[in-house]
Amino acid sequence: MHDDDDYCDRPLASPTLDDIVSRRISRRAVLRGGLVASAAAALTSVSATALMAAEKAGGTPFGFKGVERGVSDTHVVADGYDAKILIRWGDPVLPGAPAFDPSNQSAEAQARQFGYNNDFVGYVPLPRGSNSSEHGLLCVNHEYVSAEVMFPSQPDDADEAAKKAWTKRRSEIEIKAHGGSIIEIRKTGGAWQVVDGSKYARRVTSDTPMTIAGPAAGHEWMKTNADPTGTRVLGTINNCAGGITPWGTYLMAEENYNKYFSGALPGGDPRAEAFTRYSMPSGGYWRAADDRFDIAKEPNESFRFGWVVEVDPFDPKSTPVKHTALGRFSHEGAESIVNRDGRIVVYMGDDSRFEYLYRYVSDGRYDPKKPAADLLDKGTLSVARFAEDGTLAWVPLVYGQNGLDASNGFDSQARVLIETRRAADVVGATPMDRPEDVEPNPVTGKVYVMLTNNADRGKDGKPAGFGPNPRNGNTMGQIVEIAPEDGDHAAPSARWDLLVRCGDPARDGIGAVWNPATDENGWFSSPDNCAIDPAGNLWVATDQGDNWVFNSGKALPGASRDEVPKGVSADGFWAVETEGPGRGLAKMLFRCPIGAEMCGPRFTPDGQTLFLAVQHPGDDSCDKWPLFKGPSTFENPATRWPDFKDGVPPRPSVVVVTKKGGGRIGA
Ligand code: FEO
Ligand code: CA
Ligand code: CA
Repeated sequence: MHDDDDYCDRPLASPTLDDIVSRRISRRAVLRGGLVASAAAALTSVSATALMAAEKAGGTPFGFKGVERGVSDTHVVADGYDAKILIRWGDPVLPGAPAFDPSNQSAEAQARQFGYNNDFVGYVPLPRGSNSSEHGLLCVNHEYVSAEVMFPSQPDDADEAAKKAWTKRRSEIEIKAHGGSIIEIRKTGGAWQVVDGSKYARRVTSDTPMTIAGPAAGHEWMKTNADPTGTRVLGTINNCAGGITPWGTYLMAEENYNKYFSGALPGGDPRAEAFTRYSMPSGGYWRAADDRFDIAKEPNESFRFGWVVEVDPFDPKSTPVKHTALGRFSHEGAESIVNRDGRIVVYMGDDSRFEYLYRYVSDGRYDPKKPAADLLDKGTLSVARFAEDGTLAWVPLVYGQNGLDASNGFDSQARVLIETRRAADVVGATPMDRPEDVEPNPVTGKVYVMLTNNADRGKDGKPAGFGPNPRNGNTMGQIVEIAPEDGDHAAPSARWDLLVRCGDPARDGIGAVWNPATDENGWFSSPDNCAIDPAGNLWVATDQGDNWVFNSGKALPGASRDEVPKGVSADGFWAVETEGPGRGLAKMLFRCPIGAEMCGPRFTPDGQTLFLAVQHPGDDSCDKWPLFKGPSTFENPATRWPDFKDGVPPRPSVVVVTKKGGGRIGA
């Protein structure tokens, strides 16, 4: 999901002294890229060996020819690869799911079918604890819905009662279309298929019963009429990215949950500041289906969202758990790593403009033979404070420290966590350009932070370009690389560097910086999700949002509606070199159909299968695309991908990418 960034209204940024300095920094980074091999040498995995072999050969680790920039109604994959649909919105997940009938969708049907707008994809091998790359559980988030292409248009002249009834019905369907799906999949004869009637199949929705754990559980602000204990909640909302833990559970990150609530607090309510800091309320309509989304009726309900949820994919009857120790904000993802001392470290971004980068470190140590139940409940959440000199400090958000006490309105660790954003404000965290996915690379030990964009950077009254967020009016985004001190992910400090500043490097005035050898097809904008393949290579999925129509030097705002702007591209999935002379080179493996965002990326342990999630096909700003006379609707969508059948709207789908004849993706 992206935010509403109106590119057209924004003047282009001018080149600054900072741009020039950063070009130098980038060149320096290219020259010293080989340093990372020394970190890799300390590792013993097959993956590390593969990375080093690739570097030794002195060439690119990526052997495929990149897909060209462009826009089409269907997907495009690099030559030599297959891309097949695995599962689509409306396909059966649970036994008894009715056939997909988009013109007559119901909440009952949707509760048993694959949900809408697939985002995060996790793969957990079967049998449990194995390393199988041919049989496993796929854990898929359903972040939100694209109502215009999901539901038949409603008559404009419907009376108020009919409109009200429709809002209620669609809210009920949407509640079931959100959440996640767990499906069993198997590769047979080289082709992946969903296992029918699997005992693992599960739908998690926005009304699945869950428990609340960690320091904020039971706090006064977590209690509602339906749950006077503050420890039980129905459902999870707006699950964007997530993670798979070392013990094989599925983490679902709750992102823009605020958009589902509406109504108002009474005047003078002590919770007002906590609401404002989280952009509450914001006009959601689900209160038509359930009073708990009405702030006036249930003011504390929203405090029970914005957390990281853990689901055991091996037990479809298990109760998901919201882990409050990981903080409350617009969680993009929650990718973890076992630190060298055995502690679990989870990296997380708060995906909103000028929000922060977080890290959680468990108190306990992970023992694969005896996984502790409280690793995500007892630990320290910290927020990143960057310095211009290439260092960053992780500042703990602990009650009683760094001003997180009564002087700033905090009475407990629970309040620090419920109001994580305000706590991070107090300790002077660095406001970032929308931190999306953050992933540790287990091969090199580095951490990659996708910063998708921030058009408000440098506007009046807003923070100006600085350090890892160097550009004012930044519609293009950047990737920051973090090297923990001595390879210790729990260390109090780290070093940072910019890997790339996105956008077209041939376009003046936007300060894009890539490897100098980058050509017209070798750049992208708005990095969002990422994945590290088993050889330690970085891959990036893009989400240009409504900017995709304009993200080219050839397609400036005001260009004719009748021309196809050269250089514009749909979102896609990109290989990005991080080491050696090729550092900062990129090429596209897969291009989305029009109006879609690229999500989900996940490799199997052998690196031979890649799962991609194509989210909201036919949605983003298709009405601005010269070759489509929009708006894109259920009746007249910009694409009917992937079915291309009359009457069937576009369907968000998970795609399986494999190399023809086998072999590692990208090699
Ligand atoms: Fe749901 Fe931050 O993208
Ligand atoms: Ca996104
Ligand atoms: Ca995302």
